[in-house]
Amino acid sequence: MKISPEILNLVPYRPGKPISETQREYGLTKVYKLASNENPLGPSPKAIAAVRAALDHQHLYPDPSHYELLNTISKKWGFSTKQLAIGNGSDEVIDLLTRIFCEPKQGVLTSEAAFNAYEVSSGANRATLHKVPMAPGFRFDLDAIANYFLSHPETDIRLVFVSNPNNPTGSYANKKEVESFLEKLGNRDDVMIVFDEAYNEFVRAKDYVSAQTYMGKYKNLIVLRTFSKIYGLAGFRVGAMIGPEEVIEVYNRVRKPFNVNDLAQVAANAALQDDDFIERSQQICWKGLDYFYKKLEELGLPYIPSQGNFVMFDTLRDAVKVNEALLRRGIIMRPLLNYGFKTHLRLSVGLEHENTAAIEALEAVLKEVPSL
Ligand SMILES: Cc1ncc(COP(=O)(O)O)c(C=O)c1O
Repeated sequence: MKISPEILNLVPYRPGKPISETQREYGLTKVYKLASNENPLGPSPKAIAAVRAALDHQHLYPDPSHYELLNTISKKWGFSTKQLAIGNGSDEVIDLLTRIFCEPKQGVLTSEAAFNAYEVSSGANRATLHKVPMAPGFRFDLDAIANYFLSHPETDIRLVFVSNPNNPTGSYANKKEVESFLEKLGNRDDVMIVFDEAYNEFVRAKDYVSAQTYMGKYKNLIVLRTFSKIYGLAGFRVGAMIGPEEVIEVYNRVRKPFNVNDLAQVAANAALQDDDFIERSQQICWKGLDYFYKKLEELGLPYIPSQGNFVMFDTLRDAVKVNEALLRRGIIMRPLLNYGFKTHLRLSVGLEHENTAAIEALEAVLKEVPSL
């Protein structure tokens, strides 16, 4: 059997440990998963009702044109349906964009500690990933990314991924940084710029701007959004892309016709229209984050202020050991060794009792695992 080296060298994406697996391995009944930046409220009740009502026509293939969903997105976000496309999670869109824009050995550019899917999709599509060091504060250095692109023509970079806010760091690039970045790389014919805004709805920073604002100004700009976070539909797998019409047209040729199943389309369509649920989800996230900040400060653990629904913090200890001890107590957080962080963990905001349980467990574990 001969497998191409790029594929063999792929480092698999490490998802959060499932609750059922943790229960089995540790003999626990009560387990809280705060590891995957999911919505602790569950799916929007409107989405659940719509999915129930749609169950009886699941013998039919889904709508390959995503007509209803695209029209609702168009009304809500203010773009023509020709500028919109749907994926099986934004993960699928990331993968297909890499396939569309990069030939083998061409380059993909992002930051160190950027969302891991860019690395996996680059490898899987035989492109070469280039990572630029972060700015202090674990922030994307957009200036350095633009300069890297401009000063390394030999790398043949075709695609730039900016995760804003970024996962797992929770940090963000502000309006001034985004605008100056777009001024440098915008409207070039040789590179596509992708702003991944999976956590867009959780942002509280006043100087944040969605790259959506600049869609009319730059023809090489794409924005990704997801229904997995604030809309509470991670299990359904729905992501969306806003982009130039030519890109949307090509994407729709490359994707599988039935990439998003009917229940997922129905759920996303209903969730988009559930404004009350979105507001409750924001409130629970912000309250939870403020609670985590306060407790982490009391515990003397440094953290990165987050614009997502999670916080990355420094345990000041071997994070693998801390994580293991937390698992024994039924708390699933996310170790970040695959991002090169040996002492950090990422904690997603849960319901109030889950947040309290996580902090209590952490407090106990800090006494068990020696600091470095
Ligand atoms: C920055 C970022 N982009 C994209 C995704 C993928 O989302 P989806 O569930 O839509 O594939 C995630 C998921 O964690 C994420 O953190």
